Amino acid sequence: MSEKIGTKIIHLNEVDSTNSYLKANPELLNQHGLVVLTDMQTSGRGRAARKFVSLPGKNLTFSVVLHPQMPVGEIQIYSLLASVVVARVLENYVSKIRLKWPNDVLVNEKKICGILLETITISEQHFPILIMGIGLNTKGNHTDYPEELKDIVTTLEFEMSQNSNKILNAETAITLKNQTVFHQLLKELEFCLEKFNYTKKVSGNKKNTGCTSALLNEWLQRSKAIGRKVCSLYNTQGQPNSSRTIGLIAGLTKEGYLQIRTEDGDILTHVSGDIIDLNN
Ligand code: BTN
Repeated sequence: MSEKIGTKIIHLNEVDSTNSYLKANPELLNQHGLVVLTDMQTSGRGRAARKFVSLPGKNLTFSVVLHPQMPVGEIQIYSLLASVVVARVLENYVSKIRLKWPNDVLVNEKKICGILLETITISEQHFPILIMGIGLNTKGNHTDYPEELKDIVTTLEFEMSQNSNKILNAETAITLKNQTVFHQLLKELEFCLEKFNYTKKVSGNKKNTGCTSALLNEWLQRSKAIGRKVCSLYNTQGQPNSSRTIGLIAGLTKEGYLQIRTEDGDILTHVSGDIIDLNN
């Protein structure tokens, strides 16, 4: 099987959600690297059953089918990998990029990209299949978004016009194209899957362990997470009845979960649920 990402791309004018499209067409899930791209999502989904708002022609929204060959409990690492991929591409355009656990990408502390990972088990495949959905706000302005999002989102075009440290010149900003960014993202995803050793092994029986520490280090460096004061909501291992934990980020587990040091000095592992940043 080819390791290439995007050898097959299904381009839809409009769809409810590219992740949902793949789930509704399970025959497509057999193809590692297949991509579904749309110009407009009418019912985009985010983490924790939230909506992902799309504006016609102003977002890049697509989903990639991946065959990670690992059990579902280890797949969290792909959240970090996806956000590192997006950050690497965005830094060709703007600076002040920061990653937020598990997989948000911020520019100037505003959300520019969300990532939704979903796993599916199908009988032909031994390991679960991963659908990696990426939604990036490319064009327009934060003021184009619904009232409740205006203050918390940003767009690549807006940041390129604002960012005093922007990387590219004004001419490039005018010609910013969704298709260009899309192909850069696919290329970088393929590169990072290879670099961090998360590609599917075609020959031999090598175990797919991945260069986890290199990936975790890059994510930690890009997130500036260590020492940030946060409130963890919901699923915190070791505190069965607790729904809120305040502490300082201490690091990541090898699976990519967040470690939080409480005031008592205990290290808790945050597995899922929201992390509220208390620094701002
Ligand atoms: C989040 O912000 O919580 C994640 C947002 C993920 C949005 C992308 S857009 C492509 C794919 N299809 C969806 O319905 N969601 C993801």
